[in-house]
Amino acid sequence: MQQSILVTGGAGYIGSHTCLELLDAGHNVTVVDNLSNANPASLHRVEELTGRKLNLHKVDLLDPVGLHAVFKEQHFDTVIHFAGLKAVRESTEIPLRYYHNNVTGTLVLLETMKRHHIHRLVFSSSATVYGTPPSLPIRENFPLNPTNPYGRTKLTVEHTLRDLAGAEPEWSIIMLRYFNPAGAHPSGSLGEDPTGTPNNLLPLIMQTAVGQHEKVSVFGGDYRTSDGTGTRDYIHVVDVALGHIAALKTLSETRGCVAYNLGTGKPCTVLDVLKSASRTVGKQIPYEIVKRRAGDVAESYADPTLAASRLQWQATRNLDAMCADAWRWQKTHPNGYTS
Ligand code: NAD
Ligand code: UD1
Repeated sequence: MQQSILVTGGAGYIGSHTCLELLDAGHNVTVVDNLSNANPASLHRVEELTGRKLNLHKVDLLDPVGLHAVFKEQHFDTVIHFAGLKAVRESTEIPLRYYHNNVTGTLVLLETMKRHHIHRLVFSSSATVYGTPPSLPIRENFPLNPTNPYGRTKLTVEHTLRDLAGAEPEWSIIMLRYFNPAGAHPSGSLGEDPTGTPNNLLPLIMQTAVGQHEKVSVFGGDYRTSDGTGTRDYIHVVDVALGHIAALKTLSETRGCVAYNLGTGKPCTVLDVLKSASRTVGKQIPYEIVKRRAGDVAESYADPTLAASRLQWQATRNLDAMCADAWRWQKTHPNGYTS
């Protein structure tokens, strides 16, 4: 069924890829984004690639008046809520800004939705809510124990959503816990455009491949993993975007608030990623093994079977596809959308 969807944070990395899939699936899309970490060019690309138009409102979620005006102008069936700050290290330095933006911003959104009688929501949570898992793979019912302020903002929002759905039965809420989104749209014209030096592995590897950094520092070679480096569940950003399309399809039958892992279920080490990226680029990407990064978990990967059975969704793109698509984007956009 075609829906009218409000996408908060839709100009960002995962949001823009999801807008593309939403338009391709026939939905009408309106984006609210304060553009604090995004370039609106991402949405022009989405329009070019799909041949369809969307609306962008440059509005901050912390501005209830501006947000109300957007809801007044148009009716929405569902809200997909990506808007948030996401840098783990930064969140340890300016925690109040993270809590205010991610938690207060969500509260303003929920109040505005309520005021306009909209009760369907898909929320971007993160695997970071699990912290160090008691065993692997990670299932949705594992203990939630994030180890940094960013993760705690996500968990605070999860608690808020559960409490809201518990108190008001009209809400249908899906919380998607992404593992490690990576890669870019296969067209090469949509990708991740981080401001400043990225902290995440694949963007750093790709920037090193084009000579922006001398080498990649591999954080820790002494973990108890197959090659001593940390493992993660890297998931193609297009698979993540398609997870939202799958969630939308089941939202009308969802009562209350449900969490799903979006991961591949396949752990990859840092050296696996470097090998795949080096093959893609056609040369060895220089790296050096250095000491562990504080706060890193050794291993993290999803049990994605709940999403497979209930959302009829599973990731289909592998690490080589993530590297090939990330490289296509990086080669043509060494400075992101301003290239
Ligand atoms: P991103 O920074 O590219 O996108 C977030 C968007 O939200 C940006 O366009 C930004 O301008 C906007 N924004 C931030 N605060 C806002 C506010 N107060 N009002 C309006 N707009 C605001 O990040 P992303 O990688 O696309 O992540 C999207 C969501 O997924 C985030 O909530 C993030 O925490 C979550 N997530 C991301 C990852 C990841 O590795 N990328 C992993 C797990 C969860
Ligand atoms: C972290 C967060 C995650 C968040 C994501 C996006 C945790 C547990 N996870 O993921 O919730 O969504 O950031 O910001 O807080 N690595 C290197 N060298 C580098 C960079 C990374 O070796 O220069 C290694 C890391 O040690 C890790 C892997 O690469 O093993 C992935 O790191 P990264 O991309 O930063 O993501 P996470 O730390 O898993």
